[in-house]
Amino acid sequence: MKKMITDFDLDGKKVIIRCDFNVPIKDGKITDDNRIKESLKTINYAIDNNAKVILLSHLGRIKTEEDKSKNSLLPVAKRLGELIGKKVLFINETRGNVLEEAVLNMNKKDVLLIENTRYEDYPSKKESNCDDELSKYWASLGDIFINDAFGSCHRACASIVGIAKYLPSGIGFLIEREIKMLGNTLDNPKRPYVVIMGGAKMNDKIKVIDKLIEKCDYLLLGGGIANTFLTAKGYDLKKSLYDEESLLHAKDLMGKYKDKIVLPVDGYASEKYEDNLEVKYYDLKKVDDGMMILDIGPETIKLFSKYINNCKTIFLNGPVGVSEFNSFEYGTNALLKILKESGADVIVGGGDSAAAARKFGYKDAFCHISTGGGASLEYIEGKKLPGIEAIDNK
Ligand code: 3PG
Repeated sequence: MKKMITDFDLDGKKVIIRCDFNVPIKDGKITDDNRIKESLKTINYAIDNNAKVILLSHLGRIKTEEDKSKNSLLPVAKRLGELIGKKVLFINETRGNVLEEAVLNMNKKDVLLIENTRYEDYPSKKESNCDDELSKYWASLGDIFINDAFGSCHRACASIVGIAKYLPSGIGFLIEREIKMLGNTLDNPKRPYVVIMGGAKMNDKIKVIDKLIEKCDYLLLGGGIANTFLTAKGYDLKKSLYDEESLLHAKDLMGKYKDKIVLPVDGYASEKYEDNLEVKYYDLKKVDDGMMILDIGPETIKLFSKYINNCKTIFLNGPVGVSEFNSFEYGTNALLKILKESGADVIVGGGDSAAAARKFGYKDAFCHISTGGGASLEYIEGKKLPGIEAIDNK
């Protein structure tokens, strides 16, 4: 059992909280602030308990000097200030005198946000490679370390694993909830248990499929993953995205688990991976030359409903079509509706499916929508997450 933020006396202490504020930002504006909102419980708890609150997070990936200004956490500081109703002091660097003085001058209940931890990734990957000097430096700024960045717990970086080596540490409320919902529900699911997987990145997900298929009763597939299985089965989906390298593996899985794997039968397509072009409907056995399937169709929804309506637990990972395009939101939206009406315990994991659930108005319709993408997949795959392992036990 890991220590919790509630196991510490925070009064007057400098409490470093690692959050996952890796939120989408377009033209300087946050387009989805869910991850910030999900961090509020822990941040507010620290404020209410008179801590001096020092926040760390990464944002995007920093590979060049130009990446830095595009990935500043300044918009996050502003949004967080609005959400907690008090000023968030933003320090636009990751180390140095200005930061150290600002920390020294903090009063109880003050909140300070340090610039994107991945600024330390250029020119040398200090944050991502868990550089020891950097870990010690950040730890020297605080008295207690709380990790609440569930979405980043699969990354063994300095601001997650490194600092925990040098300070008393615990987890926050967000990680506590994620572990409870993903772990308890999916380790011991009420049956029948259906897993629905979509999304584009087949390679990332094949290992998870290997694990989940043993546990679940049915695996329903959409998106690029389904295209890969269909292609392995001999379908010609023309220009549709699929993963060549995973074809053999997909074939093996279909041989071994043919009664468990359910594939789409129809879909919508256009000529390019673009929104608002002409959309055509296809039986997947008869796709025209030059077309790419970008969503599932109504016959597939009917087929999926048969499995969904009788099951007790559902795990959804990845949209079944390109749900961010208006032209191809049908399948994911219709699927979410059936999931809501099913009465089953529904857990949504993965950044894109979580974003789709919020976009289509299902934010509060399910048992749990995970804030993690890769982290939630690795967690349910049964892997130990370094960010959680690094935290002190009770
Ligand atoms: C995520 O969005 O999945 C996490 O914030 C981790 O981000 P990363 O994949 O860039 O490490």
